[in-house]
Amino acid sequence: MAPEKTHRVFVGRRLPQEILNRLTEKFEVDLWDSDMPPDRESLIKHISKADGIFALLTDSIDKEVIDASPSLKIISNMAVGIDNIDIQAATYRGIPVGNTPGVLTETTADFAFSLLMASARRIVDADNYVRNGAWKTWGPSVLLGRDIFGATLGIIGYGAIGQAVAKRATGFNMNILYNKRNPIDPIEGITAAFAPVDQILAESDFVSLHVPLNEETRHLIGARELSLMKESATLINTARGPVVDQEALIQALESGKPGRAALDVTTVEPIDMNDRLLSLPNVIIAPHIASASVTTRLKMANMAVDNLIAGLSGERLINCANSKVYDT
Ligand code: GLV
Repeated sequence: MAPEKTHRVFVGRRLPQEILNRLTEKFEVDLWDSDMPPDRESLIKHISKADGIFALLTDSIDKEVIDASPSLKIISNMAVGIDNIDIQAATYRGIPVGNTPGVLTETTADFAFSLLMASARRIVDADNYVRNGAWKTWGPSVLLGRDIFGATLGIIGYGAIGQAVAKRATGFNMNILYNKRNPIDPIEGITAAFAPVDQILAESDFVSLHVPLNEETRHLIGARELSLMKESATLINTARGPVVDQEALIQALESGKPGRAALDVTTVEPIDMNDRLLSLPNVIIAPHIASASVTTRLKMANMAVDNLIAGLSGERLINCANSKVYDT
């Protein structure tokens, strides 16, 4: 006889069948069977009866949502970032919050580097140029970009993803500057120098952001910081939109300093189609897909399931973003 399912789990989005199978094997699953996220009212209604939630970064799990569920025992986020969750409110309730670090490091670094290369070598401009019939001949000044090999890369936020970007930059013989709260011990195979953020902004040809979003990093890059960047530089953001003051970025890009930006994240997601950012020719925008490889998204979903199973079995989560809950 199949074991009785004692816990109810709310799943906030349609998921691959193999992931759903793992969940339904263990839990009574309340599935939001859609490719769009639940609206707030539905989220509150469904979570109110749940013991666990399989959340996505589009689900805002704030205090009101958490408080709506007296039975909630675990929040499992299918993301490494946890800025969509009120960690303080969860911790206060003794609810562990699971996330998915590690499995997306290389895929996200691949994408950050892809944005860097696409921006430097104007891949999107080039594709549009061909499709629009502008390709009349080979020209000495057509679609000139910037060299990557030997350029200076500034990495702000030097955790696992920042370091994985540095590994890629090493293959391109880039000079690497990084900023983190404190300098770290040298990493084998990577030559990177610790530098203050202002120095990084002033000296780098490419600046790539890899900090989590929190109150300290919100608008870390504002008008003053952007004004320090070179005209020839590119700002790359695969972290979170609000790490950059987007209005300041628009003004900076309009004035051509920095010359380009390549963004996987924006302040509001999805971006409003009337957003001025979309009218600028010197920015590439992707729809928050840095971790979106077939393999990695499956690993992230499986890790989120592992966290749910551990949490609802009364075990410590495999990856817990608020391990403080285990202190008491
Ligand atoms: C994606 O942005 C993540 O935080 O996993």
